[in-house]
Amino acid sequence: MSDLKINMNNFEEVKKSLNSKSLRVCVIGIGRIGLPTALSFAKSGLRTIGVDINEKLVANINSGIFPLKDEPGYEDIFNDVLGKKLFSATTQIEDAVANSDLILLSLPTPMDENNIPDYSALTAVGSQLSEILSLNSLVIVESTIEPGFIEDEMVSLISKSGRLKIEDNFSIGVCPENANPGEILHDFTNLPRLVGGINQNITKIITIIYKYVFSVDLIEMENCKTANAVKLTTNVFRDINIAFVSELALMFEKLGIDTMKVLEAAKGKYNFQVHYPGAGVGGPCLPINSYQLLNTAKRIGSDLSIIESSRKINENMPEHVLKLTLDAFEDCKKSIEKSKILIMGISYKPDVKDIQLTPAEVIIKKLQKLGVDIHIYDPYFVSTEVFGIKTEQNLENIICNVDAAIIITGHQEFKNLDICIFNQMKSPILIDTRGIIDPSSANNNHLIFRGLGRG
Ligand SMILES: NC(=O)c1ccc[n+]([C@@H]2O[C@H](COP(=O)([O-])OP(=O)(O)OC[C@H]3O[C@@H](n4cnc5c(N)ncnc54)[C@H](O)[C@@H]3O)[C@@H](O)[C@H]2O)c1
Repeated sequence: MSDLKINMNNFEEVKKSLNSKSLRVCVIGIGRIGLPTALSFAKSGLRTIGVDINEKLVANINSGIFPLKDEPGYEDIFNDVLGKKLFSATTQIEDAVANSDLILLSLPTPMDENNIPDYSALTAVGSQLSEILSLNSLVIVESTIEPGFIEDEMVSLISKSGRLKIEDNFSIGVCPENANPGEILHDFTNLPRLVGGINQNITKIITIIYKYVFSVDLIEMENCKTANAVKLTTNVFRDINIAFVSELALMFEKLGIDTMKVLEAAKGKYNFQVHYPGAGVGGPCLPINSYQLLNTAKRIGSDLSIIESSRKINENMPEHVLKLTLDAFEDCKKSIEKSKILIMGISYKPDVKDIQLTPAEVIIKKLQKLGVDIHIYDPYFVSTEVFGIKTEQNLENIICNVDAAIIITGHQEFKNLDICIFNQMKSPILIDTRGIIDPSSANNNHLIFRGLGRG
């Protein structure tokens, strides 16, 4: 273990180390969030090392291959900091940690097939840190975790070798990540960040570090668990509200009311915050965050029934997409079996290359069970293989070969389409789950159209 110059528990020392750029940073987990984080620290002039178990990712990064092409602005930063030798990656956690003052954890926090949150990456690294963390280091957990995880689990994991004692010779805090994939540079440099330390001194220290690197406002919370509670509250708010408008959309459909028109008008009310219905809620955050809070509630014997029913609604939306599709096929007296259906968009949200927990996968599986021949076009997944299906290179070549199309992701490219393109389909059946297509122009173009929530 190297002798550390900086006592990360000492505000003045940390401040000085920032000014002299002598603070050494290690980011463990350099994926979607961790890599941009590491690059931001390096860009601020601090020598930063990224650690990951993904050997290919590490090799690519060290060879100058930037892996996050859909994150505007970061490729230039990557080339710059790599060139200046301010950033490199490694699979060797021991050396990287031993030679760093500040350790950031941007490790995945997924859930298993039973929707139970999986913190194994964090607990594995926590145990490793117990052996390898240098004295007087500061650990900041950026991953999304349940309130109490730091206090109840992480501190004892890092302390378990007996070498380290919290607030005595190591410190910990959280700065939960809140960036949107596809807009990370914008969000990192604009959105306020939450901070919670194991004590107020550490909160202040984390604040000056993040202020130095990101120049954003920091919201100081009284402890780690409160900061994590805020992070989960904001995301679960969205999950619940999407469920609310999705459930309304199901009813408005039956009432012949266009949900998009309702929402457009409702936006005018000063205290209405608009959310949109859709094919389901995916991604690495919202569904998992709801299950994280449900897991906490179960653990401590609380009731969070609104989150539970919201999850149920959001998870049932793919079934409704199937219903709309079957209805449209029936309308044109065509059997869905052996039909060719084009899935437009597989990303869980618009304009990003990310299919984690995407509802598209659920819809595709349901359609395949009915004997449908699935084709996929997504501008972020061209000519590759996803869900065992070879994706299309462009829309123009495939559209004339399919019976129907289902818009699952509201990519900008789909919003820019001339509706006439759908007339090239054999049937032509169009299902829009994202409120992109105006029902009256679909009608004028003689499409057999079903719009989710469009009445
Ligand atoms: N992606 C998002 O939109 C987003 C937004 C806000 C917060 N978050 C949170 O940020 C955290 C990280 O998410 P992400 O999307 O960057 O995940 P990711 O899967 O893109 O990246 C995680 C990285 O950690 C690496 N890893 C896994 N186990 C490791 C180990 N033991 N040692 C070293 N590296 C290891 C993986 O190989 C991967 O590269 C999660 O808690 C997530 O909930 C994500």
